[in-house]
Amino acid sequence: MISELKEQFQSELSQTNLSDEASVEGLRLKYLGKKGLVTDLLKGMGALSAEERPVFGKQVNELKEEVSEAIEHAKEKAASFAMEKKLSVGKMDISLPGEGYKHGSTHPLYNIREEIIDFFANMGFHVDLGRDIETDWYNFEALNTPKDHPSRDMQDTFYLSQNAMLRTHTSGTQIHYMENNKPPIKMIALGHVFRVDADATHAPMFQQCEGLVVDENITFAQLKGTLALFAQKLFGENAKTRFRPSFFPFTEPSAELDVSCVFCSGNGCRKCKGTGWMEIGGCGSVDPAVFENVGIDSEKYTGFAFGFGLDRIAMLRHHIPEISLLTSNDQRFLEQF
Ligand code: PHE
Repeated sequence: MISELKEQFQSELSQTNLSDEASVEGLRLKYLGKKGLVTDLLKGMGALSAEERPVFGKQVNELKEEVSEAIEHAKEKAASFAMEKKLSVGKMDISLPGEGYKHGSTHPLYNIREEIIDFFANMGFHVDLGRDIETDWYNFEALNTPKDHPSRDMQDTFYLSQNAMLRTHTSGTQIHYMENNKPPIKMIALGHVFRVDADATHAPMFQQCEGLVVDENITFAQLKGTLALFAQKLFGENAKTRFRPSFFPFTEPSAELDVSCVFCSGNGCRKCKGTGWMEIGGCGSVDPAVFENVGIDSEKYTGFAFGFGLDRIAMLRHHIPEISLLTSNDQRFLEQF
């Protein structure tokens, strides 16, 4: 009886469509299910004598194991057939990039910083992050700002010791760069700067970008051209620029850079106090005294430098009324960008 059932199973198995999971399951139920043929044999054991029972039981168990194994094997085959079928029908291109998840929004200052780097890197400028802590030499002295110079007052600083301070501008990075690199030089310095300053448009910590170009025959005209292009990149093709005479100890001549008011396109409004212009930074031709301080021949080389605040640009561009919004980490504010 047992060997007959075994043969029957084997012949049925050979006729089963192994690419069809349902047929394999049908075969399993027919032999091993609650009312299956092998299960029936086990149930019938009660009618046997005490001597017959263990012998018969052993044989049925062996059969059961054999059938189970064969069906398990058939199931695996059926599953892999099914997978192959799915893959050939779906024709999924696994080399395509996945769908990105949205984790939030990038900070407006970060976006502007990336744009600035993009613009100047494309024009061949090196990018230098400098350092947050500078000595008196790098922050002031080498920049032609001696101890008794009144322009230090405007940058009343956070001192860490007699000689070390949180930098008040990124200009010190120029000095480091000129000490370590010979002309021709084209670089921008980016980073946080610190001043004792706090009102709606000034914060004790903000970000600056500084630029420096040094070579033979560098002129103020090149400075104007570079910054006019840059203003258009930041505020659109129609942005106009104006250079207003000013003073910085490290540039001569010096100018404030104004851009046509982003609120009224230069017609004059309350935001620009009726002038049609908004100040975005300072600039000028490098003062020969600065070159002397870093060992660059000021007879041979000339240069220009400029510096502006990223926070100011972000505020103008997005019409942000309070500078503190940029660092207060308010989700409702940040999600708008
Ligand atoms: N360092 C100046 C400031 O922080 C800006 C500046 C940079 C001006 C370079 C001229 C040249 O106000």
